[in-house]
Amino acid sequence: MNIIIITGASSGMGVEFALQLDNVFTYTIDEIWMIARRKEQMLEVAESMMNTTRILDMDVTKPEDMERFKNLLVKEKPTVRMLVNCAGYGVMGEFSKLNMQEELGMIDVNCKALTQMTYMCIPYMRENSRIIQLASSAAFMPQPGFAVYAASKAYVNSFSRALTEELRKKKIYVTSVCPGPVDTPFFDLAEKDGKTLAIKKLTMALPEKVVEKAIQDSFHKRSVSVYSGYIKAFEVLAKAVPHQILLTAMRYMK
Ligand SMILES: NC(=O)c1ccc[n+]([C@@H]2O[C@H](COP(=O)([O-])OP(=O)(O)OC[C@H]3O[C@@H](n4cnc5c(N)ncnc54)[C@H](OP(=O)(O)O)[C@@H]3O)[C@@H](O)[C@H]2O)c1
Repeated sequence: MNIIIITGASSGMGVEFALQLDNVFTYTIDEIWMIARRKEQMLEVAESMMNTTRILDMDVTKPEDMERFKNLLVKEKPTVRMLVNCAGYGVMGEFSKLNMQEELGMIDVNCKALTQMTYMCIPYMRENSRIIQLASSAAFMPQPGFAVYAASKAYVNSFSRALTEELRKKKIYVTSVCPGPVDTPFFDLAEKDGKTLAIKKLTMALPEKVVEKAIQDSFHKRSVSVYSGYIKAFEVLAKAVPHQILLTAMRYMK
């Protein structure tokens, strides 16, 4: 059985991946497995999809849910053609003033669960399988006011790029997706205690465009996917200019 697995499939870019991959892989895969906590949202999305879907309502931070998922893989022995790790969240604000559980939760979902999911799926992949990891342009440099989130995404980007090299000999291709702000429900939670810099809001992208580019980049075996000229320019800047200079400049931005 050939399958695609998408985490974070109840909202935002995870939904977009489900819809676009459903179109790309019509009749060439057997099932799309959709993972998130909100089952109703996933069922609603699945209704408009052509492929057979399997809705797995799981909290990826709960060991018992991940064990259930591991057992499902053992039972079904699928070939994982693509894994999209989209589950994630961010909370903005000053580190020492934010809720500690929410801060640690970002590490649990964005880093630990993504790593565990990747580890569990690789044994079921074969030549030409793909892994798409949702990092962020926040991975490019430290972000005061978004400290833990940016650090978690730097982890995702670093982990994914190393994995690209390790898996090259198996012909499994990994893409780290690094968008700037994307217009999804992400900001409902992210901005509850803090605000995005106005300059960042100007570069807000549409989820369908970011996901389309990510899928294309994955098919082209690119290790990093960056949508839009603004964010590519930011990537170049963050590579070329010492981070302390950029951090000092950011102090004066609102
Ligand atoms: N939007 C942006 O500006 C932006 C920019 C760069 C990168 N990203 C990254 O892109 C990814 C997708 O974000 P989005 O913008 O699509 O946000 P979103 O609309 O808020 O979607 C986040 C998804 O993650 C799932 N999720 C969160 N915690 C979970 C948990 N414990 N267990 C299972 N699923 C969980 C949510 O599902 P349930 O709540 O149903 O569990 C939801 O489906 C994230 O990794 C985010 O960090 C977003």
